[in-house]
Amino acid sequence: MLNETTTATEADFAIENFTVSDAELPEFKDLKFENINELHIDHPGANDAEYRTRRDYIAQCAKSFRETGEITDVDYNAREQRVWRYVAEELEELQQKYASPFYLRAKKDLGITTDRIPQLSEMNRRLKELTGFRLAPIEGLVETRGFLSWLSYRVMLCTQYIRHHSHPAYTPEPDIVHEAIGHIPMFTNPNFADFSQFIGHGARIATDEQLEQLGRLYWFTVEFGLVEHEGDIKAYGAGLLSSFGELEHAFSDKVERRPFNLEQVINHEYTYSDMQPVLYVIPSYAELKEITKKYIESF
Ligand SMILES: [Fe+2]
Repeated sequence: MLNETTTATEADFAIENFTVSDAELPEFKDLKFENINELHIDHPGANDAEYRTRRDYIAQCAKSFRETGEITDVDYNAREQRVWRYVAEELEELQQKYASPFYLRAKKDLGITTDRIPQLSEMNRRLKELTGFRLAPIEGLVETRGFLSWLSYRVMLCTQYIRHHSHPAYTPEPDIVHEAIGHIPMFTNPNFADFSQFIGHGARIATDEQLEQLGRLYWFTVEFGLVEHEGDIKAYGAGLLSSFGELEHAFSDKVERRPFNLEQVINHEYTYSDMQPVLYVIPSYAELKEITKKYIESF
């Protein structure tokens, strides 16, 4: 009985509802996920008591969002700001060469600078005006279906903490650098925002096998995607844009850059920890959106 009800509700879900009102948004305290991974034992900050205290404070800010629906600004300290400035400046230089021009403009539009860590609240306000996308703070890594499903409401779950200062070029998990420099600017693109919503819709109705394939599509686009631009190839994936190692590697001769092919992508197994030997180049965000829509409709 419960299953029938679920199916009926999902079937009613409009795949092209691109304007999700506040009233249509599920309650954040009903977030459907479990096991939020706050800090792994092999994390560079795991044995740093001061860092752990900061992480707990920032986690509390994120948790309070689920009670109030309001994003709490984090009072970042000087050390955290230094980590941001170092990483943001290094990335800015590489991005001028390799990032998608849309992305570079969007970063400026959102007021993301190398000077200071941007607050989710300010980026959220601007995103909502531009494409109706929203940001929701979360204190750690969330399982795939729960995380992707929120995209169906045009909501991106975002961490607020920053990586440990001992390894500014590296983070084993998403942090504010990965979110603000990697993901958030692309949500100001209407086609990319709609495409992301289709992924979210897919996650809500996918079988476990389809979810795995959807995860690969997300990986080779949202995280590691390349796009054609005036006869050239540029990066728009967050995993590339937020890591100097990955970004440089993506354009080296160690990588095979293939034209995007949905069948290949959803069947392409990858490893998280290695640099990617193969990347896929989409012709445009509009085409990615259309291909993904048809794919999700086939579920
Ligand atoms: Fe990511």
